[in-house]
Amino acid sequence: MTQDTLTIVDNRTNQTYSLPIENGAVRATDFRPIKTDPRDFGLMTYDPAFMNTASCRSSITFIDGDRGILEYRGYPIEVLAEHCTFLEVAYLVLFGELPNETELKSWMQEITHHTMLHENTKKFMEGFRHDAHPMAMLVSTVAALATVYPEARNIHDPSNRLLQIRRLIGKMPSIAAMSYRHSLGFPYVYPDNDLSYAANFMNMLWKMVEPKYAANPVLARALDILFILHADHEQNCSANAMRSVGSSHADPYLATAAAAAALSGPLHGGANEEVLKMLDEIGSRENVPAYVKKVREGHGRLMGFGHRVYKNYDPRAKIIKWTAEQVFEVTGRNPKLDIAMELERIALEDDYFVQHKLYPNVDFYSGIIYQAMGFKPEMFTVLFAIPRTVGWLAQWQEMLLDGEQKIARPRQIYTGHRARQFLPIEKRVPLAVTHP
Ligand SMILES: CC(C)(COP(=O)(O)OP(=O)(O)OC[C@H]1O[C@@H](n2cnc3c(N)ncnc32)[C@H](O)[C@@H]1OP(=O)(O)O)[C@@H](O)C(=O)NCCC(=O)NCCS
Repeated sequence: MTQDTLTIVDNRTNQTYSLPIENGAVRATDFRPIKTDPRDFGLMTYDPAFMNTASCRSSITFIDGDRGILEYRGYPIEVLAEHCTFLEVAYLVLFGELPNETELKSWMQEITHHTMLHENTKKFMEGFRHDAHPMAMLVSTVAALATVYPEARNIHDPSNRLLQIRRLIGKMPSIAAMSYRHSLGFPYVYPDNDLSYAANFMNMLWKMVEPKYAANPVLARALDILFILHADHEQNCSANAMRSVGSSHADPYLATAAAAAALSGPLHGGANEEVLKMLDEIGSRENVPAYVKKVREGHGRLMGFGHRVYKNYDPRAKIIKWTAEQVFEVTGRNPKLDIAMELERIALEDDYFVQHKLYPNVDFYSGIIYQAMGFKPEMFTVLFAIPRTVGWLAQWQEMLLDGEQKIARPRQIYTGHRARQFLPIEKRVPLAVTHP
């Protein structure tokens, strides 16, 4: 008869242990009673970078990386991208169900209501250097919102949490647009609440002297789809940062700033910026085979390729490729697309990439669309952070309401010295001698 247990024999002691298996997992704390003697700390699991450790139970996002499936609250990403608006999906991700018409209308009003930033925040942003990276401005400004809304610290009050969630989703495009205008030296544009979430963002980015900004509907829809695709992605590096910082009961602005900081790295959300740099470096289709060869020989990585979870085509990359075609009908074709498609074609036929199961990820094509829309590569990760704020907040709230969660605090395997003899300063050997 099969049993949902794992039997372990500790060869050090010849003791046998039986550990329950639940949801295809054993609890790491169940290893602790496995000891060589009563003073022993007990067996730990060692898993740098969480390669095989589930840190939570979650009902927000499902990914089957081998089959290239992504679902938010059980709905396939393809269906949501085709039929929903971003705010509709944001509601789904946060509250678990798609809104009906009345719910959606009031949700849209609630978010719109919070798009304005305090004038002090504007002044704060004016203090950044003219060439500050927009992502660094975004991270700092989101953190600074904690000074504007001190009541946000009251994270155990559900209605207060909801207020901060609405504020963050409402204000994120405003901060992003201000960071963009700041880098160009243009005056900031106030939100226009008649417009949709994406169209209003475009208004704050690109309105100049016209009395009312009219967003191109194809570009506004493309941006909305890109926002849907980036809304959440389960326990990625930034969601993990959000949960980890949030687990100390830090306020949501500071936790979101931490998550955005995690997103900024080139191995995470910063990859789309790196893809564009890589395509610039390649320069033309003819140079693609030589570039792929170089990567195969261990010189650098193909940015926008590979994923910790997807070992198949990233379903978001497929939708982005389709969206790119719509965008290019308005903006004209970005010549980088040809290089990217050639890169994808050659890489997907190359033994190295096939064997390593390296497929294009979401960042591979998103940057090409953003560039065609007129964004500089430095803005790409900021564009990622706007929708991902929804996912971070959903993960944060789920973590707070999960009775099994505590402050995140991993164990370590200590490899340093112990109980060393203290040396007075005159007897110490210079570091350069001990560690040349
Ligand atoms: C996303 C990423 C960080 C996942 O990393 P990971 O799960 O830790 O996988 P690893 O870094 O251990 O890579 C596994 C193997 O594939 C190779 N590999 C992974 N991504 C690669 C890439 N983009 N180009 C070339 N080789 C790659 C590694 O060199 C390694 O090879 P080895 O086993 O022969 O040493 C990684 O694929 C990457 O750096 N991609 C480029 C950056 C990017 O696009 N990030 C956006 C993610 S949405």
